[in-house]
Amino acid sequence: MDDISLKQFTSMNDASDATPYVKALEAFDGIEPLQELKAIGHRRTGIAPGRSVLDVGCGFALETLRLAPMVAPSGTVAGIDKSDDFITAARSRAAKESLQIDFRVGEADALPYADASFDCVRAERLLIYLDDPAAAVREMQRVARPGGRIALIEPDFSTTTINLPNRAVVRRALAHEVDTAVVNSWLPGPLRDILVDLGLNEITIDTRVLIFPQDLAAIYYSGIGTHAAEASALSSDERDEWNTGIAQLKAAGRLFGTIGYFLFTARV
Ligand SMILES: C[S@@+](CC[C@H](N)C(=O)[O-])C[C@H]1O[C@@H](n2cnc3c(N)ncnc32)[C@H](O)[C@@H]1O
Repeated sequence: MDDISLKQFTSMNDASDATPYVKALEAFDGIEPLQELKAIGHRRTGIAPGRSVLDVGCGFALETLRLAPMVAPSGTVAGIDKSDDFITAARSRAAKESLQIDFRVGEADALPYADASFDCVRAERLLIYLDDPAAAVREMQRVARPGGRIALIEPDFSTTTINLPNRAVVRRALAHEVDTAVVNSWLPGPLRDILVDLGLNEITIDTRVLIFPQDLAAIYYSGIGTHAAEASALSSDERDEWNTGIAQLKAAGRLFGTIGYFLFTARV
């Protein structure tokens, strides 16, 4: 797996090669507590046969494809993402599985659907990338029917940990990543207020701590060291120590990195 930068998710159309991002999302998707959080979201939002669901920022449709059988035979699933490449990949994956899903290219803060079109509107790892997450949630609220549900799954980057021994260097590198990786790295804190201010009801919050698989951890945390060194937050010696530490822990099968994830659900 090649180096990845989370910033790229704001403009996937400019990525020279989307493959490492697809691989990273697939590897991350296999983490059990994340699947638990998704399942809780499905329960809380009443995903069931006959329901209509929209996945905003659906990417190449990892979760969107799973929703189709859950609402079959009479339900509908739609997915929207700003990346042409991801939507092309999503359509091709859906075709391979003979799933009828309405995929569109579009922006989260200007959804091309009529008011009250869906029973459930969900987004996963989308709002952290948006300058104005409230505008996107307002759009999700608009296209959900009255009494419909919204589900949002987002990480809090300030909860990231790694078991490297030099705590001062770890704190500096992780602080740099929190401050620079995405525009809303502390989003779960303000997100409840966003939902309350929009007048959404029955807000629930669930959390899980996700432990990175070793391979993905090595890629992700090496990237954090590289970004910090490029911005002079780590010296080159500290970056080398960081990379050596990661390589040694990974070789011993002892690399331990975690991040906290949050599921918010609400009724419209
Ligand atoms: C980390 S990926 C998550 C994809 C998918 N939700 C998943 O969990 O596999 C973030 C996605 O948000 C999309 N995205 C970023 N900004 C967007 C915007 N303003 N409107 C719609 N999609 C956007 C990206 O193209 C990318 O597919």
